[in-house]
Amino acid sequence: MTRRTAEPYKIKSVETLAMLTYDERKKALERAGYNTFLIDSADVYIDLLTDSGTTAMSDAQWGALMTGDEAYAGSKSWKRLEQAVRDVYGYQYVLPTHQGRGAENILSQLKINPGDYVPGNMYFTTTRAHQELNGATFVDIIIDEAHDPLFEHSFKGNVDLQKLENLIEEVGADRIPYVCVAVTVNLAGGQPVSMQNLKDVYALCHSHGIDVMFDATRCVENAYFIKEREEGHSHRSVAEILKEMLSYSDGCTMSGKKDCLVNMGGFLAMNDEELYTRSRELVVVYEGMPSYGGMSGRYMEAMAVGIREAVDDHYIEHRIGQVRHLGEQLIAAGIPVVQPIGGHAVFLDARSFLSHLPQEAFPAQALAAALYLDSGVRSMERGIVSAGRNQHGEHNTPKLELVRLTIPRRVYTNNHMDVVADSIIELYNKRDSICGLRMDYEPPTLRFFTARFSPLAESGDLMSGN
Ligand SMILES: Cc1ncc(COP(=O)(O)O)c(C=O)c1O
Repeated sequence: MTRRTAEPYKIKSVETLAMLTYDERKKALERAGYNTFLIDSADVYIDLLTDSGTTAMSDAQWGALMTGDEAYAGSKSWKRLEQAVRDVYGYQYVLPTHQGRGAENILSQLKINPGDYVPGNMYFTTTRAHQELNGATFVDIIIDEAHDPLFEHSFKGNVDLQKLENLIEEVGADRIPYVCVAVTVNLAGGQPVSMQNLKDVYALCHSHGIDVMFDATRCVENAYFIKEREEGHSHRSVAEILKEMLSYSDGCTMSGKKDCLVNMGGFLAMNDEELYTRSRELVVVYEGMPSYGGMSGRYMEAMAVGIREAVDDHYIEHRIGQVRHLGEQLIAAGIPVVQPIGGHAVFLDARSFLSHLPQEAFPAQALAAALYLDSGVRSMERGIVSAGRNQHGEHNTPKLELVRLTIPRRVYTNNHMDVVADSIIELYNKRDSICGLRMDYEPPTLRFFTARFSPLAESGDLMSGN
């Protein structure tokens, strides 16, 4: 018999969930323009929109909040955060920012000159937006397999070294200010990068004098996959693996709202003193004093504790296990999902789920809306809407047209995952009744946040027969 395991925490405080009727959810969806980002949280039953800033903090973190030193300069809380980053991640210099994109802004401004190229293992929305705003062209150098939702690969986030070499040859190393490596790769389905690949990328870049900057947002999840899947690492602690992983980079941007287990915050870290000095000059312009950078003292305290809690082997094993608990039920029921199941989310393959809809009818957006309508579960589109438009004003048409079911850390139990699975399975059985959407309002950048849609069906209903 396989012994079952349970959450490695017990619950001290609870929040009541909203349980709306079908008609109430329908009205809420209409008010939100069929965009799950625009649904009020008060109307959501199980919120899988994002794992960003939605973490449940521990009692130790709540306790630490009270010790926050809110001094404008030289806060004790900042010292504790800086020490936690040095101890757990191993970078020498750290600058706090209000969240990950604050760090991306500063890094992009300092490193990029107009006309540069920034290669990365698949783009992330805010990261690419900052690179482009500073005049760079983003170049995707992830392995081809990452674009195939069903291809089983232990490290689907790996960089294709040949693609990177080709780019260096084509544009020259001096036009590549840094290579941006995400660990794990959010838009590929939370897929990890292997230790060997990180080592190889670092060696290749350094032989050309190019820096490697990690997007370390979900680096602990990546370290767990290395422990689980890569030969020679199973006996090591996640903390040890993480430190080695990050040693194959020159610095990182970090959204603390994920693997630092807090609701707000981030940082930029590096080993180069000169880059640090220049970054400090920009932190004061965009974020605040280098000893708070957009965070309050209490939040820096909570983050310092969270950084250490996240590398607890029991925590991370359960975290990845809970995501898999949802994913494996869906696979068993024949639902098309990105495989293998990644670190922070289960991704439904909307192209295949709603194979009767063309990509221009926004199948992933429609599926996310239908899931909310069916059960009050909130998810997010990661497909043509998120990919935005190219320089010619045409839709970017990514191969992956996905709905992301993102699991917040330490928030839901496996029973909640079962409820989500039931709803998706029922929806799959009546998938032909779901129609596509038209976009009625489109903002110029990061359109997925605020775009509005309506059903293409003449009846005006997203799902016929309900
Ligand atoms: C991979 C990745 N990088 C960067 C960011 C941006 O971080 P933030 O939301 O803290 O600005 C996110 C946020 O979701 C992310 O998933």
